[in-house]
Amino acid sequence: MQDALLRLQQEADTDLAAISNADQLESFRVKYFGRKGPFTQLMRQLGAAPKEDRPKLGKMANELKLALQGRFDEKKVDLVGSLAAAGPQLDLSLPGRQVPQGKLHPVTQIMEEICAIFEGLGFSVAEGPDIETDFYNFEALNIPAHHPARDMHDTFYVDDSTLLRTHTSPMQARVMETAEPPLKVIAPGKVYRCDSDITHTPMFHQVEGFLVDKNVSFADLKGVLRVFIAKMFDESTAIRFRPSYFPFTEPSAEVDIACVMCGGKGCRVCKKTGWLEILGAGMIDPEVFKKVNYDPEVYSGFAFGLGVERIAMLKYGINDIRLYYENDLRFLRQF
Ligand code: DAH
Repeated sequence: MQDALLRLQQEADTDLAAISNADQLESFRVKYFGRKGPFTQLMRQLGAAPKEDRPKLGKMANELKLALQGRFDEKKVDLVGSLAAAGPQLDLSLPGRQVPQGKLHPVTQIMEEICAIFEGLGFSVAEGPDIETDFYNFEALNIPAHHPARDMHDTFYVDDSTLLRTHTSPMQARVMETAEPPLKVIAPGKVYRCDSDITHTPMFHQVEGFLVDKNVSFADLKGVLRVFIAKMFDESTAIRFRPSYFPFTEPSAEVDIACVMCGGKGCRVCKKTGWLEILGAGMIDPEVFKKVNYDPEVYSGFAFGLGVERIAMLKYGINDIRLYYENDLRFLRQF
């Protein structure tokens, strides 16, 4: 048994010397110190040795095991140290990791740009509720129940008298109800219509604008919009007013700009007309003034409403409005 112990020691030392990685270190531990390892087996054989030799042999086996354990631990420390030393080094001269920076959504950017232009012209900004009453969204704007114009609005109703506003025009009535002329206001915000295709999303943004004072004329409307379009697009952008109809303005017009893609020659985007519609406008209907107790004999005013996504599409040459709301970072990062 003594010989067996000495052989075991030699064998273990040879194995230990050959270890060069963590896997080998673990195999060694299992092989020599595991429950089925040689020390356990030798201890079991102790019973077969002569009785008087047993204490000496037992002590020898224990010492041998302890010594081996010590050498194993040393080897482990060496190995872990050298592995760490050979591993990746800390290089303080490397640049830090970039923290991704958030940006405003393109629609928000255009919205802010539109508001800044009108604020520069002396308009103040008013905001109102997205959940609106039938009264402000329709009645106060000269669109009574059963008026055919309600059909154009594809309204989301909350209940019989409450709805998601279909346009920002209700802000005309809300502001006029609480303030006296002269007024120069823009009202930006979200609007909702039950409609979805490449030029419509169920939620989109509008900016409403209106000016009320004495002796306001259509020429004033034209002047303000002229300045807005020159700043938003280009000084030389041609504009035209096309007669139209809105229940809350009389006369009403839709305003077109020369196609930003072809410069007015006619292309796919402008459907060969050379023009792109960008907003609705007109002189505020006397019926609207009556609803808010303004005297239409004393005051006159103009109003306009423009679609923010539409302006952003024209400015950036985007052909599908839904791109704004898919949250594809490859698209959004371009702005
Ligand atoms: N509210 C209209 C719409 O959403 C847009 C509009 C047209 C607003 C004419 C106006 C206006 O203020 O005068 O279709």
